[in-house]
Amino acid sequence: MITISTRPDLWQRLSAWRAAGDRVALVPTMGNLHDGHASLVRIAKRHADRVVVSVFVNPTQFGPGEDYASYPRTLEDDATRLQAENVDLLFAPEIATMYPLGLEQATHVSVPGLGDELCGAARPGHFDGVTSVVLRLFALVQPDIAVFGQKDYQQQLIIRRMVLDLGLSVQVELGPIIREPSGLAMSSRNGNFSNTERSIAAALFEVLQVVAQELAAGNRKFAKLEAKAMRLLTEAGQSPEYVAIRQSADLAMPDAGSQSLIVLAASRVAGVRLIDNILVKMP
Ligand code: PAJ
Repeated sequence: MITISTRPDLWQRLSAWRAAGDRVALVPTMGNLHDGHASLVRIAKRHADRVVVSVFVNPTQFGPGEDYASYPRTLEDDATRLQAENVDLLFAPEIATMYPLGLEQATHVSVPGLGDELCGAARPGHFDGVTSVVLRLFALVQPDIAVFGQKDYQQQLIIRRMVLDLGLSVQVELGPIIREPSGLAMSSRNGNFSNTERSIAAALFEVLQVVAQELAAGNRKFAKLEAKAMRLLTEAGQSPEYVAIRQSADLAMPDAGSQSLIVLAASRVAGVRLIDNILVKMP
């Protein structure tokens, strides 16, 4: 595995691969890698000859007062992990490489509508930061495919819209959520939990499963189910932000005929904002 941090080095390596006719996959990350990220690398390997993983803690997707400064940066461990996964290229740029004109002068791309609700409502500007940095990564790497995780379901839908709208020639693949034995979705933000906090956090997936089971059994009282889930999360010691039952294709409100649903939630435990979701087929 080669580690690259500059644009010219990246272009040189990629043009050699492209000249050889290799298909290139990109897995964008913010580092502090865990088994969830590794699972995306394995999906990428199935689809391409070369796998590029980017590690960049993107400042433009963090709001004021969010955890940009304290976000775990563990590049050496990440490199060891990626090497073990036979990744071809680790792209770990500095801020000035990703944003050469500076953050104030940076070009932005924004997907309206979908980016303003659910996680976007609680984190204004967050998804604009995500689409802007992902578009930059797509422009720099020009991957044939890019792999994202279902954990950030809204994020991958927004990226798909951007790809469709701008006519980008990248195929977006979605990897399933990888969980700890307790059911807690793996996250770079789980690292500092005490044992007690960790078991409180595990209630998020349990509650989502309760809702998913009710839906799969034919319960279509969506608002009541959401309210019940909020109550269960509070009783479990969490501070839930939202629980939402939506259509999985576009996150629109479901109706009596909706077939493919998703239950999404964001909830806080010990100051850490957790997100999770479950896809549900209606009977
Ligand atoms: P990050 O949170 O590092 O996540 C990188 C990718 O890993 C995302 O596609 C995310 O959905 C996926 N992922 C995270 N936890 C996962 C889990 N438990 N199972 C499976 N996949 C998981 O998402 C971002 O970074 C950033 O917003 C980024 C797209 C890199 C843009 O900065």
